[in-house]
Amino acid sequence: MKYKIAVIPGDGIGPEVMEETLKVLDKISRKYGHNFEYTKVLAGGCAIDQVGECLPQQTIDICRASDAVLLGAVGGWKWDSLPGNERPEMALLGLRKALGLFANLRPAILFEELAEACPLKPEIVEGGLDICVVRELTGGIYFGEKGTRETEMGLAAYDIEEYSEEEVRRIAKVAFDMAMKRGKKVTSVDKANVLESSRLWRRVVAEVAEDYPEVELNNLYIDNAAMQMVRNPKQFDVIVTSNIFGDILSDEASMITGSIGMLPSASLASGNFGMYEPVHGSAPDLAGLDMANPMATILSAAMMLRYTFDLKDEADDIENAVRRVLSAGYRTPDIGNTDDGDPTTDDTRLIGTAKAGKLIAEAI
Ligand code: NAD
Ligand code: IPM
Ligand code: MN
Repeated sequence: MKYKIAVIPGDGIGPEVMEETLKVLDKISRKYGHNFEYTKVLAGGCAIDQVGECLPQQTIDICRASDAVLLGAVGGWKWDSLPGNERPEMALLGLRKALGLFANLRPAILFEELAEACPLKPEIVEGGLDICVVRELTGGIYFGEKGTRETEMGLAAYDIEEYSEEEVRRIAKVAFDMAMKRGKKVTSVDKANVLESSRLWRRVVAEVAEDYPEVELNNLYIDNAAMQMVRNPKQFDVIVTSNIFGDILSDEASMITGSIGMLPSASLASGNFGMYEPVHGSAPDLAGLDMANPMATILSAAMMLRYTFDLKDEADDIENAVRRVLSAGYRTPDIGNTDDGDPTTDDTRLIGTAKAGKLIAEAI
């Protein structure tokens, strides 16, 4: 079967991790007889450099005409001094809005093999971790009214956090549906002790919960949730939260699974369409050094196979291949090496981006 995939390598380490991901997808297509048709498109800083804008209309059109979108990362120092609405990151927000990608799934799974890369004490993560952060992606403070105005205290800038009932309802449903397939527990994270938008959020989530009597619902304030994430992360199954809180909590969750280089994501519209990207950014400090971990992007491609193309075996195959490469002791620098200091043992398997992609493709 033929699948049309819009590919956005982007900036920094984006093109490097994407190259390895396409190697892995090519291997899947050969093994299972699929036809993945890639169309590479521009977005982010490289688009600014080449065509003068971060999100060309042609990119949106090609993404819309595709079955799914795969994205590396956008942004970098070179474009940091541009005005807010011209920055490369606007390409991401523009794509999310234009493609209606309101539901962002960020599964944080601690692979057994990476327990040592987790900065928490072993007893806190014993038995592994499997948390799914469901982040609202097209509303809230990211997309609310923003601007500047003169005040007695000088120039002031503002960004408005606003959520409608329907925006909360649809993301809450995604979270509860997800929980039904997992541990049947939803933790809704807000700041309802202070924010009006959070009080509406909490009320609507409770209404949705009534349709899911089997699912346990807990509410946590964001400050407490951030603390609980490192105190006792095993209490979490599905976390549902707003755009900005989800951005922050998912980076925190990524680190307890070993590295941000491991965390994939799916951004879904209603229906099967989705955009798949690692949770990490363009890591300008690593760009061009063959040091970036491509696993988050490779695992994002696995999510694409699972959620948009309904290719479960193929998705499992990729995830198992990543596991096998880790089990064999291979590590990119972010997840550490396995050198035990004994020169007589061959346990140092520190690898770069390209080798990681090659090994994972071979393990399929
Ligand atoms: P970042 O995620 O790019 O990097 C944070 C830290 O994690 C850095 O030390 C980096 O070296 C490390 N890291 C990230 N990905 C890694 C990987 N795959 N392997 C190994 N180490 C990895 O976040 P930042 O430094 O805050 O942002 C850099 C740029 O990326 C900014 O322009 C930011 O706006 C952008 N950004 C883009 C996205 C995206 O495109 N989805 C996401 C986040 C940040
Ligand atoms: C992410 C990123 C983006 C976000 C930025 C780069 C716009 O941090 O995908 O987590 O804040 O959503
Ligand atoms: Mn982020």
